[in-house]
Amino acid sequence: MAFKILISDPLSEEGMYPLLQAENISIELATDWSQEKLANQITEYDALLVRSQTQVNRELITKATNLKIIGRAGVGVDNIDLDAATEHGIIVVNAPNGNTNSAAEHTMAMIMALSRKIPQAYLSLMNKQWDRKKYVGTELKNKTLGIIGLGRIGAEVAYRAKGQRMNIIAYDPFLTEDQAKKMDIQYGSVDEVLHAADFITIHTPLLKETRHLLNADAFHAVKPGVHIVNCARGGIIDEDALYHAIQSKKVAGAALDVFEEEPFYDHPLLELPEVIATPHLGASTFEAQESVAIDVSEDVIRFLSGEAVRNP
Ligand code: NAD
Ligand code: MLT
Repeated sequence: MAFKILISDPLSEEGMYPLLQAENISIELATDWSQEKLANQITEYDALLVRSQTQVNRELITKATNLKIIGRAGVGVDNIDLDAATEHGIIVVNAPNGNTNSAAEHTMAMIMALSRKIPQAYLSLMNKQWDRKKYVGTELKNKTLGIIGLGRIGAEVAYRAKGQRMNIIAYDPFLTEDQAKKMDIQYGSVDEVLHAADFITIHTPLLKETRHLLNADAFHAVKPGVHIVNCARGGIIDEDALYHAIQSKKVAGAALDVFEEEPFYDHPLLELPEVIATPHLGASTFEAQESVAIDVSEDVIRFLSGEAVRNP
């Protein structure tokens, strides 16, 4: 009997190659299904593959009476109710390594675009303004980059920022002073990072402990003129607090790839000229999408053929 796999978010076609090659597997693409249709049909499927858009909530999981495995083509599993999946005996695998490089590169692109006001200057020029005074930027060399969350992506950002001759101070609950020394970066508490940094970039998951980690108190503690970057998860920054911190000029600017609610169009933050933004594009490269789709497809095949998953 063929295993039925439902794919409800767009995955790289090249990355789905292992699934197309595998025997006894049938694939259905459901990228245009509503959440309601998904809930009505999910019972037919053995495996569900998603990115970050599909909300694999308790309601969906409860209806997924034949589901055995959920594959998340990417890192964050915050769109999946892990408790509900566990209660229903459904295994969840993700692809934590495949998009590290792309997310780190996007973060550096955001830091550089922010420091040189490139999106604002581009828009101004497209509006037939040749304004060189308004878009004077800030050098990165000798500035301090504060990294909160020094995991896979945070560490890659640190290596790249050193290439820009930035000083790095980082906080991560699993980072020791010794490890920091070996990476030639300064170890600091969250408070020390907030006080020292000219640019702050966040690379933690969204957890109970990290929700609104950058809130009004944090913006009170930062250096005046700091730049904030979030290419991790919406909700780690309190968006209203960021808005007020920018309006009061405490924060000079922010680069945001992720938002508390996505898709995101109408927030007052997007009306501030100091804010640049991308629509959750950190992992959106051909390489990363192929890589995460391959990783998760291979793991689903392993599982459905009775082998142990690797969850690379
Ligand atoms: P990771 O698990 O390798 O690293 C996360 C780090 O955060 C860990 O080292 C962990 O110890 C640390 N951490 C946990 N709680 C913390 C806290 N309270 N304070 C400080 N640090 C804390 O994950 P990663 O692969 O580096 O991904 C980081 C984030 O980026 C995740 O939220 C992920 O979902 C997101 N992400 C976004 C995109 C995008 O498209 N924008 C792409 C890939 C990953
Ligand atoms: C992730 O957690 O991997 C990213 O948010 C990228 C994605 O949406 O797939």
